[in-house]
Amino acid sequence: MKKKDISVSVQIYGTGSELPGEMKELMDKAKEAGEKAYAPYSGFQVGAAVLLGNGEIITGSNQENAAYPSGLCAERVAVFYAKAKYPNVPLKQLAVIAIKEGEVVETPAAPCGACRQVLIEYEDKQGAPLSVLLAGKNETIKIERSSDLLPLSFGSKELE
Ligand code: THU
Repeated sequence: MKKKDISVSVQIYGTGSELPGEMKELMDKAKEAGEKAYAPYSGFQVGAAVLLGNGEIITGSNQENAAYPSGLCAERVAVFYAKAKYPNVPLKQLAVIAIKEGEVVETPAAPCGACRQVLIEYEDKQGAPLSVLLAGKNETIKIERSSDLLPLSFGSKELE
């Protein structure tokens, strides 16, 4: 038996004005989107904003449903809309923020497994990193590439 360590490094920034300009703009848009989330069942409002290769920013928020699994996370709402609108434009950076009882959550919310799978699909296809920013009340985590969020992943290469 051999052992292999898989490690990921992330960058930690502050919040608000402590974030570099472009990142702050993206996170502000994610927050605006999160405030409009439809999350009556969980009360957990999530906003996402994705910066595209053409400079446009597309936002999304979580959309819940009385039949729970019919809802969708903020990340996929934003990314699917971006790819539906601009199928050939790469996704550069995704910002995610969660709000509970009107306050940004303490610990940055990270995308669920299904959202990670969706992010790596597009990152893999575009052959360029899709970085991810996760905001908490006092810190912002930057992950350089979406594949760092899902080691040992399954992808289109397995189907070749
Ligand atoms: N949710 C997101 O939109 N994104 C995440 O990264 C985590 C979870 C949503 C799904 C559901 O509407 C609510 O948050 C609680 O899980």
